Amino acid sequence: MTDEEPDLVAVRGRIAQRLVGRERELELVLSAVAAGRDIVLEGPPGTSKTTMLKAITAEWGIPLLFVEGNADLTPARLVGHHNPARVLREDYSAENFVPGPLVEAMRSGGFLYLEEFNRSPEDTLNTLLTAMADRSIAIPRVGVVHAAASFRVIASMNPLDDAGTTRLSTSVHDRLCRLAIGYQDEAAEREIVRLRGGVAGTALGERMVADAVAVTRATRAHLDVRQGSSVRGAIDCVLVAGRLATLRGVDDPDTDAYRAVLLDAMIVALSGRIHLDAAADTTREQVLHEIWQDHFVLLPAAAEPG
Ligand SMILES: Nc1ncnc2c1ncn2[C@@H]1O[C@H](COP(=O)(O)OP(=O)(O)O)[C@@H](O)[C@H]1O
Ligand SMILES: [Mg+2]
Repeated sequence: MTDEEPDLVAVRGRIAQRLVGRERELELVLSAVAAGRDIVLEGPPGTSKTTMLKAITAEWGIPLLFVEGNADLTPARLVGHHNPARVLREDYSAENFVPGPLVEAMRSGGFLYLEEFNRSPEDTLNTLLTAMADRSIAIPRVGVVHAAASFRVIASMNPLDDAGTTRLSTSVHDRLCRLAIGYQDEAAEREIVRLRGGVAGTALGERMVADAVAVTRATRAHLDVRQGSSVRGAIDCVLVAGRLATLRGVDDPDTDAYRAVLLDAMIVALSGRIHLDAAADTTREQVLHEIWQDHFVLLPAAAEPG
């Protein structure tokens, strides 16, 4: 392991250049996977999980295989199946086995990224646990598949997601390292939105970035909202607002026309990304309208002297 440590420092440095912030999270995830561990990343959507994993696997030159955890993810889907037409012609054989993502990741030494893994059926999780523990899997009529050295299982789960999820047994938790990941601070979110929103440093673009990030963050604090929007909503808000401003000939951010552009962009970019509390007696559009009013009318007025 000591041989790899200087390398690890260089890898961390190169990946950090492609990430906004997340120094600590990157260091911890990288240390866990470099140590040969599997890990669960626990956090809401849009908190850099995929971005970090893509950067790490790209550095290592290994595949990243995505699987979405849901009730339909049977053990056969995860492991693979025999092609039924060929089985009829040729009988079962290793040649007509179609590998699923778990076997592909084991053979290629890739990361199997199982998103929302707590939505998977229990027998699927058991299959996964066995493969993780043994670093191999026995497949009937195929044989034993051994995992290449860099094979890892990365799971993710959303702590705010409780409908349709399985309460994971302690045996599952006992086999995984864990890192909780939250939202980034406002400055980092602005930087991400600036990068992904294609804002070319214009005054109008800068205002859109600041406004989109502020209202997106406000969706996470609104009392009627169970889960607010991630930074993805802010990115889309800026992208949509840019086109709307062009269509409407708006170029001055200190106008009612600009504020109307922002409200419409918020409706399009954010309304599908906020999840109301079951008991809330309102609509998503209404919530966004309140947030818009707070941001553009009430807060600036409060900030004015006198
Ligand atoms: N730290 C970051 N640096 C740069 N871009 C980021 C960062 N975090 C998130 N993003 C961007 O935000 C979006 C969502 O991030 P992603 O990593 O896919 O989230 P997750 O996998 O946690 O849902 C992507 O467009 C990604 O490019
Ligand atoms: Mg993701």
